[in-house]
Order: sequence, then structure tokens, then C-alpha cells
Amino acid sequence: MPRFLVKDASKHIGEKVRVCGWVNARRAHGKILFIDLRDISGIMQVVFIPSNKEVYELAEKLRPEWVVEIIGQIVKRPENMVNPKIETGQVEMSVESLKVLSESETLPLSIEGDGYKIGEEIRMKYRYLDLRRERMKRNIIVRHKIIKFIRDFLDKENFAEIETPILTKSTPEGARDYIVPSRLQAGKFYALPQSPQQYKQLLMAGGFERYFQIARCLRDEDPRGDRQPEFTQLDLEMSFVEKEDVMDLTERLLISIVKNLFPDKKIQEIPFPIIEYKDAMKKYKTDRPDLRKDKKDKDLLAFCWIINFPFFEKGPSEAGYPEGKWTFTHNPFSAAKPEFREDLLNKKNIENILTSQYDIALNGLEVGGGSIRNYRPEALEKVFEIMGYKKEEIHGKFGHMLEAFKYGAPPHGGIAWGLDRLVSLLLDEPNIREVIAFPKTGDGRDLMMDFPSEVDKNQLKELHIKIDLSGLKIGSKRQSKKPAKKIKK
Ligand code: AMO
Repeated sequence: MPRFLVKDASKHIGEKVRVCGWVNARRAHGKILFIDLRDISGIMQVVFIPSNKEVYELAEKLRPEWVVEIIGQIVKRPENMVNPKIETGQVEMSVESLKVLSESETLPLSIEGDGYKIGEEIRMKYRYLDLRRERMKRNIIVRHKIIKFIRDFLDKENFAEIETPILTKSTPEGARDYIVPSRLQAGKFYALPQSPQQYKQLLMAGGFERYFQIARCLRDEDPRGDRQPEFTQLDLEMSFVEKEDVMDLTERLLISIVKNLFPDKKIQEIPFPIIEYKDAMKKYKTDRPDLRKDKKDKDLLAFCWIINFPFFEKGPSEAGYPEGKWTFTHNPFSAAKPEFREDLLNKKNIENILTSQYDIALNGLEVGGGSIRNYRPEALEKVFEIMGYKKEEIHGKFGHMLEAFKYGAPPHGGIAWGLDRLVSLLLDEPNIREVIAFPKTGDGRDLMMDFPSEVDKNQLKELHIKIDLSGLKIGSKRQSKKPAKKIKK
């Protein structure tokens, strides 16, 4: 008999079906035993009566979170027993047979209710149990629906979803890299990607014209409520576009997501307002202002664009650039605004050069950022010269980009959304950990699997790595200098 999901039960009155799931709750009413059976689709009441002796006796042993398989008939509930609070409240199941598939010890945390008041350490340690919570299940499924919507939308707009490497090269992109040693190339390291930035531009050089990816990004930076060391972007890039084209596509996609998946939400202003960086800083003291007219209304979404950022600022930056040297505020691969292109080529007026960067904020959080790119090798080289790199260093680190732009690279631009942030805002969650299946703690640990962890001596030997903890301050949690503030982070 095929498995039946409980949410459709009221459409199948009178039918005999087989259901599988968890005992959500068990209660007795006189001699009658009830369990609420929970599966991925919902909850249904199941009834055991003493006349079905063998089954009844087994049912008496059931405890919360045991996993069972039940065959029985869907019947209409008496009028006075209808429960309007659940989808299957009109019906219940009259049991014919019961099989226990798995028993459960008492759970170390309650999975009833929203769980906000339960300590996060315990929720993370037993994340697989926390995920059984209705709110968490909804979050993860809605996240899936948003991603599916994005994929379908972009497919219709002729984008190709293309995967890019996770083992890549360490280059400055704004944060510190996670590095990975190589067994076959002793003493050399891969880096995990902070974003697919360079690969997506190389895909444009490869002629793909419209690329996107639901991309995992890894940054060794200080996590906080809206930051994780490992997070997901909707990353996209387009050839032959101006900034208005990328902004228009972003707006249309965001509006469609809200209209189709969150019809109760209201977007405050369409088209999204566009604010200059200097005006935002003057008026709101931030480059990601919360423009909501009514901050108490949880269904109000106030998107806005911020443009005309300065290209360079003086270090130090998060990635540990030297004090007092120029570094980029956003992305070294962005183009300067056309009126500053001469200044860039002549390395003049550096503090006033504006970049073609555009960021998008929602209710006070930065949910995305992108730019039109600098696809002329001589101009890109100047960016790195301004940052103090010597010719050999530029060619060592970025030679592949300079080279790629020599062979007929199309003008291009793109954007990346912080998908976790967007999903958490759409779901009214207080932080991105609530919309990530397996997030890490504030100091980058996984409490469920207990890592980062030490590795076997032989593994290190094979990698030619020696650990030297002599520089580690006793009692200090962090080994690195506190990073300085950057414009956008
Ligand atoms: P950027 O660094 O601005 O741009 O990243 C894009 C968006 O990703 C989100 N984000 C994060 N979300 C969670 N945890 C983090 N640690 C974290 N860091 C960033 C933010 C941010 O707006 N390659 C460029 C994009 C481009 O130019 O196309 C990039 O990565 O919402």
C-alpha cells in the first residue's frame, strides 16, 4: 500500500490508508487512546479503541517522538470533536494495525512552540531535533520555495545556472580566506571562495552572457546575527548591461517573489528608491537605511538602492591590509564611474573616485550588492597599483583576470544577494541562523558535530604541516587582531 501524507486526509474519508510519522502527543479519554501523528505535511488524530486488543496494548506503550506506521480508515469526526486549528481537524483515523518503527528517549529539548526562549546552544547541539519544530520546518521549506522560484524565474530570463569551484585561489576580496592545505602540492594552499566573483566574470569572458548560481560563500570574519562564516548568495552576472539593467532585473525578481510567495507583505515603494551614498550617510548615518514608514508593521518591506560609493578608502581593512594604504571599499573588479575613469588611469584624485557599485538594503539590512565591472586590463591593473601592489604581485595574484580581459571580454556587471538575510527578513526571523538548516555559533563552531576539531598527526604529516600555538594568548578566544571597520560590513 503506498504511503499517504496526512495533510490530504479530509479528502479521503472512508478510505483505508497507510501513514508513517512521529507520535506528536498521546492522550487518553476514558478508555479511548488518541495520538497526534505528525509527518512532514501536518498532524492527524489517530484513535485506538480497547476492542482491537493487540493494537491497543501496543498503543499504550507509545511515547512522544516514537516513529510508527499505521494502517487504518479515515473517518469523519463527530461535529463536537472537530478541531478547526489543524488542517485535518474534520477527520481522524480509526486504526487497524500499528507498527513501531523506532523508539525515542525523552528529548533533551522541547520541540513544541516557537523555541525562541530555549538556549541556542542546546538548539544547535540537537539541531536535528530543533528542525522537527514546526517553525523551523516552515522556514527551511519556504527557503526551498524561494530558491525554486528564483531558479524558474532566471531560467525564463535565459540565465544558465553554472557551478564554480570550491577549491580556489587566495586573493583579496574583502575578508580573510579560509585556506586548505594540499597533499599533492606540499606547502601550497587552496582557498575557499569568499564569493564566485572572479569565476563569474571569467564565465562572461567565456561567452555565457547570463550566469547565476545559488552559491556557498566562505569568509573568515567575525560572525554576528546577520553574518555566518558560511552563507549562501544568489549570485548572478550579465554581459552587455548597464547598472540599470541589473537593478531592473533584481527589482522584478524581488517583487515577483514577494507577490507570489508572500502575498500578505507590502512593498513600501516601487520602483525602489535610489539614494546616493553621501546622502544616506548624511541623512541616516548609515549606508543601509531602514526606510519603513511604520516600523511596527511586520508586513512592510522597504527596499532601497544605494549608489555612488567611494571606490577607495584608507586601510586597515577586514582582510588586514596595512594601515594607511589605499584599499577598495567593495570590490576591486568594479569599474569606476565613467567620469572618474581618467582619474583612475592617471592614479589621481583617488579619494574622490566613485565606483559603479550598487547595494540594496531592506528594512535596515544590506541584502545585496553588485557593480558594473572593470573589464579593461590596463584600468584593472591601476586599481591594484593604487592599492600598493607591485607589478609581479599583480600578475601573480590576478594575471588570469588581466589575461582573460585581453581576448575580447564583453562589458559585464552583476549582483549577489545575501540569500539567508533576505529569507530571514521575509520570514520575520530575528537572525539568519533561524533560516539555515545547520548554522554555526557566533565564534564559528558547530556544536552538533563539535568542530573545528584537531586532526590526526598523520594527516598533518602528510600535508607537511606543523602546529605552532606559541603565539596564542592564554584565555583569548581570538587569535587574530580585531578587524577594522569597512564601509559596507
Ligand atoms: P558582497 O560581499 O556584498 O558582494 O556580498 C553580497 C551579499 O551577501 C551577504 N553577505 C553575507 N550574508 C551572511 N553572512 C555573511 N558573512 C555575509 N557577507 C555578505 C550580504 C551582501 O550584500 N561578489 C560580490 C557581489 C558582486 O559584486 O556581484 C559580493 O560577494 O547580504
